[in-house]
Amino acid sequence: MTTDDQKRAAAEKAIEMIEPGMAVGLGTGSTAEHFVRELAVRVRDGLNIRATSTSLRTEALARELGIQVVPLDELGPPDLTVDGADEVDRDLRLIKGGGGALLREKVVAAASKHMVVIADWSKRVDALGLFPLPIEIVTFAPQTTIQRIASIVAGCGCRGNLIRLRGGDRPFVTDQGNYIADVGCEFIPDPEELARALSGVPGIVDHGLFLGMCQTLILGHTHGLEIVTR
Ligand code: A5P
Repeated sequence: MTTDDQKRAAAEKAIEMIEPGMAVGLGTGSTAEHFVRELAVRVRDGLNIRATSTSLRTEALARELGIQVVPLDELGPPDLTVDGADEVDRDLRLIKGGGGALLREKVVAAASKHMVVIADWSKRVDALGLFPLPIEIVTFAPQTTIQRIASIVAGCGCRGNLIRLRGGDRPFVTDQGNYIADVGCEFIPDPEELARALSGVPGIVDHGLFLGMCQTLILGHTHGLEIVTR
């Protein structure tokens, strides 16, 4: 299977977990998009669900495909949220936010009764950190926040601490109106320690480490699917 086939196969498997009447959280990214498209087919066939979205991009797609999308506050806790990931380790710890939607993704995942991550095999890693860790920061004094992040990342024993503001001179702006700093940690020896350290920093809104949030991982690979539940 190609990478895209793996993403689609994982998304199709996740569809089997959707039951009539469920409140569903819709993730963001190319893998989540496969899920949304597949879900829309079931909805057109009469499946009754209500959904909320983790990004404006996914919301627009879902609506276009005929899925009813409501704000999270109106929906209440999703029974199931299905989202992609940039990296996942053996303990189902994740790096997310490559698509810039980490804040809404984390709010929706944290509110959900069950989070399912769907991904292709390239996302499976022995240790988190090779994929640059996205950190959502406020637009006030971004370089000051970035310097603070660099010293925290080094202090937590990461191999690298090269940081760039996504978009450079024309910074990428998130759905919440914030910036993203991408942090090349290379290797994160203790993701929990790094998450704790980043959480206390003024100027940081949230970071792309999703720890203890994913209950089910559906990974596509060349010969089929691997499903891990914790
Ligand atoms: C969006 O902000 C991300 O967290 C995505 O879920 C992640 O980047 C995975 O994207 P793909 O499914 O496109 O690889």
